[in-house]
Amino acid sequence: MNHSWVEVDLGALQDNLRLLRQRLGEQVGLMPVLKANAYGHGALEVGRRAQQTGTHWFVTAHLQEALGLKPAVDGARILVMGVVEPTAVELLVAQNIIPIVTSEEHAVALNAEAGAHGLRLPVHVKLDTGMGRLGFTWLEADAVLPRICALPNLDIQGVCSHFAAVDPDDPARAGVQLERFGHGRALLEQLLGRRLFAHMSSSRAFLHLPEGLFDAVRIGILLYGYGAGAFQDELPLRPVLQWKTRVIQVKSVPAGFPVGYYGSWHSSEPTDIATIALGYDDGYLRALSNKGHVLIRGARRPVVGRVSMNWITVDCGPGSGIRVGDEVVLLGRQEAAEIWADELAGLCGTIAYEILTCIHPHLERRYIG
Ligand SMILES: Cc1ncc(COP(=O)(O)O)c(C=O)c1O
Repeated sequence: MNHSWVEVDLGALQDNLRLLRQRLGEQVGLMPVLKANAYGHGALEVGRRAQQTGTHWFVTAHLQEALGLKPAVDGARILVMGVVEPTAVELLVAQNIIPIVTSEEHAVALNAEAGAHGLRLPVHVKLDTGMGRLGFTWLEADAVLPRICALPNLDIQGVCSHFAAVDPDDPARAGVQLERFGHGRALLEQLLGRRLFAHMSSSRAFLHLPEGLFDAVRIGILLYGYGAGAFQDELPLRPVLQWKTRVIQVKSVPAGFPVGYYGSWHSSEPTDIATIALGYDDGYLRALSNKGHVLIRGARRPVVGRVSMNWITVDCGPGSGIRVGDEVVLLGRQEAAEIWADELAGLCGTIAYEILTCIHPHLERRYIG
């Protein structure tokens, strides 16, 4: 077995879902975020298990993701948080996929296309309350939202936004966004004469900002077992994904032996170097060169030399006894030793999200639990 594989523990996912639901209570819905192939875990399997345990709303970034997910979660509603092309209106209605409306131009085009097909398109209005990315800004809300609400073929069912920063040490930043959201939401509800389904929080806001829960939360990273931070004791989430492979060659080398491109590492004593068939092509970041560790035979072993496209090299120490075929853990647990995505992220100056979503889709996902 030359290739690495990803082990996804759907039992851990189910436990995480249960813990999150317990904390949310009955009044606030949970919308699992399954974009980027469920953060690398496999959107279909994650969606299917989440639906089996009582989840009926899902979130993706793109229409293509929603269409791919739909057969696995038939009967559920999927909200697409990116910009959906107006030409997709018939498909959206037929598949119960809800787009967000992000600008007046977008709204007018969706409205026209829906009208041309004799349809009324359910949508959520996206308010940009400070993220500066998608949606109607608070600066234009008063002028534009009345025109959006007057479009006859849009059935505005929800209103949403996204926090740019949730910082317990600087609550004013999120506070300003909450105020802007409150204003935009109230205006829409007044214009339409009915209450809208409101959602604004992702994982961090869910943890730190009870005022931001509204009707539902869009939870991604917590579902996959990361990001609980100081809440980990009361919310004992478990990482869902492990990444594994096997040793493909072991060589015993003398002191002063160069390893990898440009010999960026030399052995300081005789040692065993294990080669593993995995590299940055698979999503093992090159920034882990001479920094990362892997687990073999229950111990941490340093990645030495540069990570190359398809192989990495690991210093196993003299007389390691390590053999071709031994299991290697890149992310996960082996005996008492553990390496998780936040550790690798720290070494690479990034976040666990990037470590997880960079694990290449071409690698086999094995589902357990
Ligand atoms: C619009 C939106 N909502 C929700 C989420 C989920 O965020 P998290 O994984 O931090 O819960 C994201 C993630 O990037 C997002 O872009």
